[in-house]
Amino acid sequence: MVPQAQFHPRKYLLALADDITAQGGLIYERVRVTGLSEGSPCKVTTEGGVTITAEDVIVATHFPVFDRALHFARLSPRRELVVAAPIAVGRAPKHMCVTDDMGKRSVRTAPLDGGRRLLVVTGESFTPGAGDSHQRFLRLDRWMHDHFPVGETAYRWAAQDNDVSDGVPLVGLFHPGARHVYVATGFGGWGMSGGAMAGQLLAALVTGAQPEWAGLYDPRRLWSTLREAPALLKQQVEVVRHFVGDRAKTTHVDSVAEIAPGSGAVVRIEGRHCAVYREEDGTAHAVSARCTHLGCLVSFNEAETAWECPCHGSRFGIDGKVLHGPALRPLSPRKV
Ligand code: FES
Repeated sequence: MVPQAQFHPRKYLLALADDITAQGGLIYERVRVTGLSEGSPCKVTTEGGVTITAEDVIVATHFPVFDRALHFARLSPRRELVVAAPIAVGRAPKHMCVTDDMGKRSVRTAPLDGGRRLLVVTGESFTPGAGDSHQRFLRLDRWMHDHFPVGETAYRWAAQDNDVSDGVPLVGLFHPGARHVYVATGFGGWGMSGGAMAGQLLAALVTGAQPEWAGLYDPRRLWSTLREAPALLKQQVEVVRHFVGDRAKTTHVDSVAEIAPGSGAVVRIEGRHCAVYREEDGTAHAVSARCTHLGCLVSFNEAETAWECPCHGSRFGIDGKVLHGPALRPLSPRKV
């Protein structure tokens, strides 16, 4: 195990938010941005029809929206599972650690109550849409119980990260033609430390400074090098494999009746691929199975009750609503 430092992310973020407001900044949450045009000034439009003008805009939406630079082709989505269980304070590990097999498991603890802490174990990473995560959750849970004297598993959830093909985050001007629009993405699971770095770098760039190390993270760096070509090629081959191969997949079913209650599958109905989920009482919810990003077919994640696209990691609810980009539009409803 490799030791790491640990701090409380919520306290850290609340202090940052306080600092922004104390210096006259405004924070708006739950406002969906639907348009961006770069100019002097830049204009950002919201779902509610409001237009905001700004000298500079930073797109820091995890997977970047308005991806005119086609960054999605250089970002590989990775989903990772998390399980948590109570552990006695005296038996809890003192450090936050990752296993030395390139971090296949990471372990930390969080405050719980008087004599206990919550042991949090992360691992079993996979590409979204690459099948169900039930077995992966079971494996991770077993590993936690095999290695630590924990109580019953109290929580389980999943997180999603984006890895850049050369392993270095993209932080700086969005694309070669950009002058006032910046991006920060591709932290590969290291967003707390990478985010602090990105904040410092972007603050410097927006105020006209050019730190010596800016070139390392510059999103435009990859256009002029072949270094990442093999990784990019491999990724695009995977996308093509899904785009073509998934249409003929044997796991697709031929009728809604074949889908067990509480489960979902892609069904061919009148020649069209529909993503159908059946509730426990048998009620069916059907949406188009074609991802609204670039048209790959979604597949069902039963453990998380969601549709996932294996090409670039978009995720949708059973009603088709976007849960995670790069897709921006929902899956359209279908009648079954
Ligand atoms: S996320 Fe790109 S095609 Fe689905």
